[in-house]
Amino acid sequence: MGYLNLLLLVVLLWVFFIPSSYEFHPSQTQVLLQIRKLLEYPSSLQTWENYYGDLCNLPKSAHVSITCQDSFITELKIMGDKLVKVSEFHGFAIPNMTLSESFSIDSFVTTLTRLTSLKVLSLVSLGIWGPLPDKIHRLYSLELLDLSSNFMYGSIPPKISRLVKLHTLTLDSNHFNDTVPDWLDSFSNLTILSLKSNGFKGQIPFSVSKIKTLTELVLSHNELSGKLPDLSTLTNLHLLDIIENHLDSELPVMPKELVTVLLSNNSLSGEIPEQFGELHKLQHLDLSFNHLRGTPPSVLFSLPNISYLNLGFNMLSGSLPDELSCGDKLGYVDLSSNKLIGQLPSCLNNTSDKRYVKFGGNCLSRDSQDQHEGSHCLISGKHSRGRDIAVLVAVISGAVLVMVLLGLGVLLLCKRCRSRRTQEQHVLSKNVQDNTPTGISSELLANARFISQAAKLGTQGAPVCRLFSFEELKEATNNFDSSRFLGEGSMGKIYKGRLENGTYVAIRSLSLVKKCSILNLKAKLDLLSKLHHPHLVGFLGHGIDGSGQDDSSSSKIFLVYEYVPNGNYRTHLSG
Ligand SMILES: *[C@@H]1O[C@H](CO)[C@@H](O)[C@H](O)[C@H]1NC(C)=O
Ligand SMILES: *[C@@H]1O[C@H](CO)[C@@H](O)[C@H](O)[C@H]1NC(C)=O
Ligand SMILES: *[C@@H]1O[C@H](CO)[C@@H](O)[C@H](O)[C@H]1NC(C)=O
Ligand SMILES: *[C@@H]1O[C@H](CO)[C@@H](O)[C@H](O)[C@H]1NC(C)=O
Ligand SMILES: *[C@@H]1O[C@H](CO)[C@@H](O)[C@H](O)[C@H]1NC(C)=O
Ligand SMILES: *[C@@H]1O[C@H](CO)[C@@H](O)[C@H](O)[C@H]1NC(C)=O
Ligand SMILES: *[C@@H]1O[C@H](CO)[C@@H](O)[C@H](O)[C@H]1NC(C)=O
Repeated sequence: MGYLNLLLLVVLLWVFFIPSSYEFHPSQTQVLLQIRKLLEYPSSLQTWENYYGDLCNLPKSAHVSITCQDSFITELKIMGDKLVKVSEFHGFAIPNMTLSESFSIDSFVTTLTRLTSLKVLSLVSLGIWGPLPDKIHRLYSLELLDLSSNFMYGSIPPKISRLVKLHTLTLDSNHFNDTVPDWLDSFSNLTILSLKSNGFKGQIPFSVSKIKTLTELVLSHNELSGKLPDLSTLTNLHLLDIIENHLDSELPVMPKELVTVLLSNNSLSGEIPEQFGELHKLQHLDLSFNHLRGTPPSVLFSLPNISYLNLGFNMLSGSLPDELSCGDKLGYVDLSSNKLIGQLPSCLNNTSDKRYVKFGGNCLSRDSQDQHEGSHCLISGKHSRGRDIAVLVAVISGAVLVMVLLGLGVLLLCKRCRSRRTQEQHVLSKNVQDNTPTGISSELLANARFISQAAKLGTQGAPVCRLFSFEELKEATNNFDSSRFLGEGSMGKIYKGRLENGTYVAIRSLSLVKKCSILNLKAKLDLLSKLHHPHLVGFLGHGIDGSGQDDSSSSKIFLVYEYVPNGNYRTHLSG
């Protein structure tokens, strides 16, 4: 009897356990077959046809590879043959390039998410089209996601950030056309971020510099503009590739582990920072096709591992010192189409064929056809074109400032202020009664609050106007020290000041004329605070020195403006 029971038990165990461990497979196999169908039977999956065995055991090829663990698929890599890249994609199926019109990326990803153990998913050149559905985040074990060379567009869905194990995110050669998300730093283990050849727009988010684990950052061939952020916090970064975008800032300090830096075909300006000379691992530096100026730091040529140095098609000027030394590994140098003068240093004069040097299109002193006349390399003044534009903006802003101040002054001085003197004295003398530490009447405080609200409502991000205490302004200008004196207009003196937070401001002091009332001023300040325009010097607030309240003629009002360097309009006009 005992034996019979034991046998029964064994049979039961067999019935329950053995088949169940087989059962996972067929379902995963079904998912694979469904994927093949949804991908419209790509030729690389032909091997799956008439194959009734375990797909996990299929031999891996360059085009397909499946890896399983405990009967679950952990890796799925399929590479199709739809390699064509169109420059424009309007979100509709294209015959012979994308999957058909009936393809639904949503159902496709839903099917994929049934492979719950996937760690590696790579689906390349398969003609997958549509916006990437956010449900892809259900593949929570994913460590590598590569969806390159497809026709995906729109934005990277925020829910992807739940894939906390992700170390590689590659979405190259698609048609993503939104901004680079600013939450990418929520991937705590991301080492490779590659988004090249898409239509990503806007700025590179500063948060990228917080992905400390990053070793490769590839954003080339997009529509990115604005500033290249300071990435010096990315101490593991080896590869930085932002070729062919519209970045127009100066070059920031670079992280020291960099081996390859590719920033060509942007609008980067300014000089090449000396700090690049600290990149001891640098092998490959391409800064060509930008607007870089100044003389390239000599140390670039002698970096221990530098082998490729491309500075061509910039506006580099001056001459390289003849004693310039070249690193042993330096094999390619391109200095062509700049404004370099003088002799080519001997280490760049290829006597041996170990180093290839391009230098045409400069004004180097040698009798070859490919050099320009010296005049070509004259740099007009020290201003770059960008700076000239900045000066122009500053000049226009200055002019507008002068006009606004003039207007205000005229209003202040010339408007009949009728008999408000009693009221005004009341307002001013209230200071003494309130004895507020700043010496400002509550009336004006309320007014300032109103102004700041108006400014907040007016334009987002515009500086909010506020009330400055006289003490604060005294401190900012070192007690109106003559060294801070910028100039004097018909309406009073202007001082340069530095606020506690480090912002530079221009402070204009206006004497309040007896006849004028502070109440009358209220309306004008209100108006000023609402004026916001990129070409207009921003009004930051005002302050009042009411110490002479017994004699209102001695009280002063201070108007605090954004500081715009480069002097005044007149100087620029007179050249
Ligand atoms: C992105 O491209 C798609 C398809 O062409 C288009 O419908 C969508 O408006 C674009 N989005 C943006 C933000 O440009
Ligand atoms: C699609 O591609 C095949 C093979 O490359 C070609 O023979 C066929 O003409 C193409 N069809 C269209 C509509 O372009
Ligand atoms: C991040 O990577 C490390 C090392 O590869 C690993 O030990 C750790 O578990 C990973 N963290 C997450 C959240 O996956
Ligand atoms: C950079 O721009 C130049 C001129 O427009 C072009 O010839 C070159 O191929 C571009 N390089 C890259 C890497 O895009
Ligand atoms: C230079 O490159 C070689 C290999 O290319 C590497 O072994 C060496 O560590 C590098 N040197 C520096 C300073 O990075
Ligand atoms: C560089 O090469 C040119 C032409 O071969 C030669 O005339 C010149 O003297 C060389 N300069 C130096 C510094 O070796
Ligand atoms: C270096 O050699 C290349 C190929 O021989 C030649 O085109 C180039 O003009 C040479 N450069 C210098 C500086 O002589």
